[in-house]
Amino acid sequence: MRFQSLILRMDEVQINDKVFGEYLSEEEIQARVKELARELDVLFRGKRPALIVVLKGSFVFAADLVKAMELDVELHFIRVSSYGNEMESSGQINELIGLDADLEGKEVIIVEDIVDTGRTLDWLIKTLDSYKMASVRTVTLLFKEDAYKYEIPPDIIGFSIPNHFVVGYGLDYAEGGRGLRAIYQLKEE
Ligand code: IMP
Repeated sequence: MRFQSLILRMDEVQINDKVFGEYLSEEEIQARVKELARELDVLFRGKRPALIVVLKGSFVFAADLVKAMELDVELHFIRVSSYGNEMESSGQINELIGLDADLEGKEVIIVEDIVDTGRTLDWLIKTLDSYKMASVRTVTLLFKEDAYKYEIPPDIIGFSIPNHFVVGYGLDYAEGGRGLRAIYQLKEE
């Protein structure tokens, strides 16, 4: 039997042809997600914000975030892709599942797993502009500060991380590794 995803040691995992080392533990991630949830609860007190979850990668983060939040929220999903199976962003954003939501007058929070160059987020904010929202904020679990190409960073950031490829907690390498509870970083060959 050939494994596509294989735990090598407690702190190492192989996905397809690549080996990744643990970078953020499950406990670190969960603690930070709770802090982010508290921050959003305070920011949107008395309101019911509409979360736009950017698939596929953000589904794990979004699920933990809404469970940790005290506020009731609306949930909407959009699927965009820019990565393909490579580790470099293609630069081309494709909307694969469109947004089917009435956002007029709503407080919107875009939920991202990772912001790398920022192209996806920039494209999303521009695309949402026609929806006549009351406000739009962005929350991302991970932010690759050195890869980011825009002036204004996401509003709420879980962890600023170096410009290395990571998997786990929803993030994939060639569709593998999304179910890992920790976040793993590519090991240099
Ligand atoms: P951006 O448009 O360059 O900011 O890239 C955003 C998208 O690229 C994310 O939503 C992810 O799907 C993907 N991405 C960027 N960096 C990584 C990574 O280190 N691991 C897995 N996916 C990544």
